[in-house]
Amino acid sequence: MTARILILNGPNLNMLGQREPAIYGHETLQDIEKLCLAATRKNNQTLDFRQSNYEGELVTWIQQEKDKINGLVINAAAYTHTSIAIHDSLKLLTVPVIEVHLSDPQKRENFRHFSYIEPLAAKVFSGLGAQGYIKALDYLSTNL
Ligand code: DQA
Repeated sequence: MTARILILNGPNLNMLGQREPAIYGHETLQDIEKLCLAATRKNNQTLDFRQSNYEGELVTWIQQEKDKINGLVINAAAYTHTSIAIHDSLKLLTVPVIEVHLSDPQKRENFRHFSYIEPLAAKVFSGLGAQGYIKALDYLSTNL
């Protein structure tokens, strides 16, 4: 079976490369998408890779894709720490959700320590940069 994987990226991740490179590195979101595409090809997965700065758009995409995907990888960025709406929409899913962060929020400001995604995630990969996305895809390829 070819598993359909949706990767969602939240606000400000479109600015990777320019955004706080000491924290997030120099890779752009497009670079990360290319790495993910190569990983999904290797894993016999198909990839839908998206980014939005709008909470409601992320919620709508989760609703629309819920019956069409086999797994979701989400870096909800700042919405991780604030969004009950995204938390509620993830409850609609019956497929595994993997939470990814480029940095390790636990080692940063207190307001990043709580995640609304984590209680619904099968696995969390933090602080590994782009490799966290690859680990999430590899995890889904062996745990579906
Ligand atoms: C982030 C961590 C969040 O705290 C932050 O708001 C982001 C990016 C990460 O990938 O490290 O925008 O999700």
